[in-house]
Amino acid sequence: MLRRPRRNRKSQVIRNMVEETRLSVNDFIFPMFLIDGINQKIEVASMPGIFRYSLDLMLEEMAACIDLGIMGFDIFPAYPESKKDKYATESHNPDTFYLKAIHKIKSTFPEIVLMTDVAMDPYSSDGHDGLVENGKILNDETLEILAKMALAQARAGADILGPSDMMDGRVGFIRSMLDDHGFTNVSIMSYTAKYASAFYGPFRDALDSAPKMGDKKTYQMDPANYNEALIEADLDTEEGADFLMVKPALAYLDVIRLLKDNSNLPIAAYNVSGEYSMIKAAAQKGWIDGERAMLESLLSIKRAGANVILSYFAKEYASFVK
Ligand code: PBG
Repeated sequence: MLRRPRRNRKSQVIRNMVEETRLSVNDFIFPMFLIDGINQKIEVASMPGIFRYSLDLMLEEMAACIDLGIMGFDIFPAYPESKKDKYATESHNPDTFYLKAIHKIKSTFPEIVLMTDVAMDPYSSDGHDGLVENGKILNDETLEILAKMALAQARAGADILGPSDMMDGRVGFIRSMLDDHGFTNVSIMSYTAKYASAFYGPFRDALDSAPKMGDKKTYQMDPANYNEALIEADLDTEEGADFLMVKPALAYLDVIRLLKDNSNLPIAAYNVSGEYSMIKAAAQKGWIDGERAMLESLLSIKRAGANVILSYFAKEYASFVK
């Protein structure tokens, strides 16, 4: 045998030398859940180790993450039913706790990259990402609401907006709204290939944001589809997106690679709630080594081509490397 691949695996030092993919804390954005009030920290039942925080405790938690080197955060608000309506009106109320919190977080930690979520679901009495009429999700009417929400988030100080709604044309619509109001420096990380996935279940528990009727299949992508992700990627690129995201990550590693090979934009991947919970649940039962499973799955996302990883494991990963 002339070729013996095992020679390059014979010691840890050699393995380190030939290692092709390396994770870093710089790769991560940590998604966090915000609730109104003070001194609140409530664990999400289906996501062990992940909490809904009131702003005061969220600031403390962010300071701890920053100490560990995490510099990117994505904040999702959880609203009580009483604040929700058909039009997601609360989403662009300048006095709403989410927007005030964004402002406070950015003034407390100006050096971080703060991402906000653009979609109607946390504020919608229908629990959908778009405006519902007669059981249908209206696309173009939703764009107007999303653009108002996006502008309000930019005014509050967000660095990156994440349209997670999957309406057609929303990246361009939001981009022109931002530019018309002088927010040319606010970035858009588009949820480009966001699939209608079972893996969002724990997130919907965290935000009480499950759809009241129907499902999200008329706007989120069919898990069977691959080429269609390129259509979405081309549109988002033309419409001015700064990052293209694939979501979920682990069941869609092929799609991450597809976008990486077909775009010069940075590719983000969202390692979603269900992907986190599966590892946690199996580890709690002692069925797998949770730490190794975390590292292996994060590594696979990067190896597939992601430049940015949104993951509930971000802090745990950062603590592990420290
Ligand atoms: C909705 C939104 C969802 C997630 C992020 N934004 C859920 C959904 O589409 O129903 C899921 C994130 C996760 O599961 O971690 N705009």
